[in-house]
Amino acid sequence: MAFPTETVYGLGANALLGEAVAAIYAAKGRPSFNPLIIHFAGGESAAKQVQWNERAETLARAFWPGPLTLVLPRRPDSGVSLLAGAGLETLAVRVPDHPLALEFLRLAAVPVAAPSANRSGRISPTTAAHVREELGDSAQVLEGGACRVGLESTVLDLSGDVPLILRPGAVTAEMLSAALGENIRQVGEGAAISAPGMMLSHYAPTRPMRLNAKEIIPGEALLAFGPNVPQGARRRLNLSETGNLAEAAANLFAYMRALDAPEHMAIAVMPIPDDDLGAAINDRLRRAAAKA
Ligand code: TXA
Ligand code: MG
Repeated sequence: MAFPTETVYGLGANALLGEAVAAIYAAKGRPSFNPLIIHFAGGESAAKQVQWNERAETLARAFWPGPLTLVLPRRPDSGVSLLAGAGLETLAVRVPDHPLALEFLRLAAVPVAAPSANRSGRISPTTAAHVREELGDSAQVLEGGACRVGLESTVLDLSGDVPLILRPGAVTAEMLSAALGENIRQVGEGAAISAPGMMLSHYAPTRPMRLNAKEIIPGEALLAFGPNVPQGARRRLNLSETGNLAEAAANLFAYMRALDAPEHMAIAVMPIPDDDLGAAINDRLRRAAAKA
């Protein structure tokens, strides 16, 4: 069952049942078993599956429900299928901030493993229509409109000595650092493979992407940002005419999808400042461009 969250649509299955989890990998056409995020209706149920610690408690209080995923050592008595965690010693847990998602998770009353509801290697869906584009018309989708955040959750590894961001998102390093009162490390690009879902080409449209474009090469479509936009694109969509990064994040995947048409030679993307949400947006853009 696909369901909306505040970040992107997820494709959920009972995390306790290996066969249900296997069906998700099959639907996504995943080349390998990447570990999945396990979703809960509340922090207390999440804490039962992992070895909870003080940092987790502080961050759950500050940011849940919300776009933050915590990676913690799995509890020996956790019933979450090993397949959902791809055989790792850790589990990624999160409580999404969306009324339909929370209702769905409450009714399910089990941990729900849910990757983004796209086919493997493709852009995450931010509307129910995108989910059907990805998984086919027969896919069961809870209709919840467009996702508010539009970028996948921040993934923070709390299983080591120092908190480590594996995937940047709307909960930024600055916000985490302020809540914990300590420095947060960020996984380097070279080390990104240690989180399997961080494969550099994870978020790829089929057309090549050209980043930091300041002018248009004939034949290109333009993913614009801000008020001063170069002319001459075959088609243009502006992530945020006022240069608002939250608006840009919410539009990013839908606009990448819309511009990903065979008649465009490539998608040129204007520079986006790297502060706040810009870091997460640029992370996704670099991954999308890496595929080409
Ligand atoms: O916003 C989101 O997080 C969305 C919505 C549906 O909740 N879900 C999502 O799931 O983006 P997915 O499967 O597309 O990405 C999961 C990410 C991957 O980067 C994966 O490697 C990482 O979480 N991950 C999951 N379990 C992990 C673990 N035990 N250790 C390290 N990374 C893990
Ligand atoms: Mg994904």
